[in-house]
Order: sequence, then structure tokens, then C-alpha cells
Amino acid sequence: MSASSATNRGASSPRRDHHMPGLPTAVRRWRPGFLTSSRRVTLRRLLRPAPLGLLLRRGPVSRSWGFDRGLPIDRYFIERFLGLRSADIAGRVLEVKDDGYTRRFGGDAVTSAEVLDIDAGNPAATVIADLTDAPQIADDSYDCVLLTQVLHLVYDMPSAVRECHRILKPGATLLVTMPALSRCSGELQHSDFWRITPAGARRLYGDVFGAENVEVLAYGNAVLGAAFLMGVASQEVGARLLRQHDPLFPILVTIRATKAR
Ligand SMILES: C[S@@+](CC[C@H](N)C(=O)[O-])C[C@H]1O[C@@H](n2cnc3c(N)ncnc32)[C@H](O)[C@@H]1O
Repeated sequence: MSASSATNRGASSPRRDHHMPGLPTAVRRWRPGFLTSSRRVTLRRLLRPAPLGLLLRRGPVSRSWGFDRGLPIDRYFIERFLGLRSADIAGRVLEVKDDGYTRRFGGDAVTSAEVLDIDAGNPAATVIADLTDAPQIADDSYDCVLLTQVLHLVYDMPSAVRECHRILKPGATLLVTMPALSRCSGELQHSDFWRITPAGARRLYGDVFGAENVEVLAYGNAVLGAAFLMGVASQEVGARLLRQHDPLFPILVTIRATKAR
């Protein structure tokens, strides 16, 4: 098992050779010696034609991640992750932009729901601060910090991770989601800086929290990735497809990091 698939506990293993599932490995791997490599790839195209359906369109079916058609595929995974980790969302909780996920997944276990934003014009914000440097927040303040789809907008990600670590109480948890694959933001196009890989996440959070305190999962697969870029909503793809996670084709990377006591 590869290191990346080992981190995807609970997720189904990637599908391999799904074009010819019934054939034995030796037959699948057979390479006719009399064919040059360029003829071989031509033959492969003929024998396994790409299903072009969505790709024949002039553009995406939605230009808003699929929000106008249902729940976007990345949001489906964000909700799966928060559902899995809902026990962490308790006590004094800090979320960015609004407290929607805090309330929905933390429920009565939340004693104080606070909202942070760098945007002073956000009426929901109870703390106006830059996550990379927030001296107005005391050390060891929160039981849980919830960062969904925020850090790819922060140029200096390591500083933001260090600040999150500082403001968490010992034993408290940081829950993060970040895009591995996504269209660029129109509204925030000048600050949509990054996409992350599972290895990048392990290093970024491991350096601050300690590798043993960090759990990284990767959600998505190649077909869903193509569908997500085209704006297809989660309700439009099969439930089975949404359960298949291929660590080589992630859409969303999730991180659970715990501050050592
Ligand atoms: C795309 S929204 C995502 C928020 C929400 N948690 C969600 O899941 O949709 C990103 C938010 O991060 C805020 N933000 C961006 N950079 C920030 C920074 N350096 N410090 C604090 N907030 C920041 C933005 O103002 C915005 O409210």
C-alpha cells in the first residue's frame, strides 16, 4: 500500500484498470513487441476511446463550482470530513467568515462560536484579524479552529499554520480543508494563490504540530475531478463514485492537527 493510500483510512481504495476489470494482470500488462510505442498509444486510443461527453462542451455547465445545480462536489467532501470529525467541534470554536459549519456540526457541544475574518466589512465577524499575524488573540484560546477553504487564499501559509497552533489550547484541534484541484476564484482572483497535495499538507502541518499529531486525507478521483471542474454538482454523480477516493487524483485535502499537551 502506498503512503498516500495508507492515510485514506475509511476511504475505498482507488480503482485500478477499470477499463478492463475482468482481465488477469498478465493480459492487461501485455505489450505487443512488434508495435512501436507510437502505434501502441494509437491502438490504446482505438481500443479504449475516451468518453468525451462533458469534454465536447464549449465550457463548464456551471461557472460557480456547481452551486447553481446543487451541492458542489468539494462541498460534499467538506461535509463528509466535518461529519467524521464533528466530535472535535466543541467548546470555544473559531471559524472563518461565518459560523455555519460550527453550528451545524458542533451543535450543543459548542459553548462559544466566534468568527474571524481579515475583511473588516464582514458583519458576521467577531474578530477582525489576519491569520498570519493575530496578536489580538491570546495564546491557548480555542478548543477548535475550523478553516474550510481559507488557507489557499493566504500567501504565507506557514505563518498562518503557526498562528493557528499558537491560539489553540493544548490538546485542541485544528480542522482544515484545502483544494487540491479547483477552478480559480473570480471574486478573489488576486488572492487565490495555492492548491495543495497530501504530501504538501503533511509537511506544512507536520512541521508545526509534529507529524505524529497530523492526519491528512485526500478525497476525490479522476472522474469526479473532471466533473467538478466542469461544474457538475454532487447530486448529479452516483453515490458510488463519490465513495471512490484515488490518492493520485485528489480534489480536496483535509487536515486534522492536534496541539500537543
Ligand atoms: C472563500 S472564503 C471561505 C470561508 C468559509 N469558511 C467557507 O468554507 O466557505 C475565505 C475567507 O477567508 C478570509 N481570509 C482570506 N485571507 C485571510 C487572512 N489572511 N486572514 C483571515 N481571513 C482571511 C476571506 O476574507 C474570506 O472570508
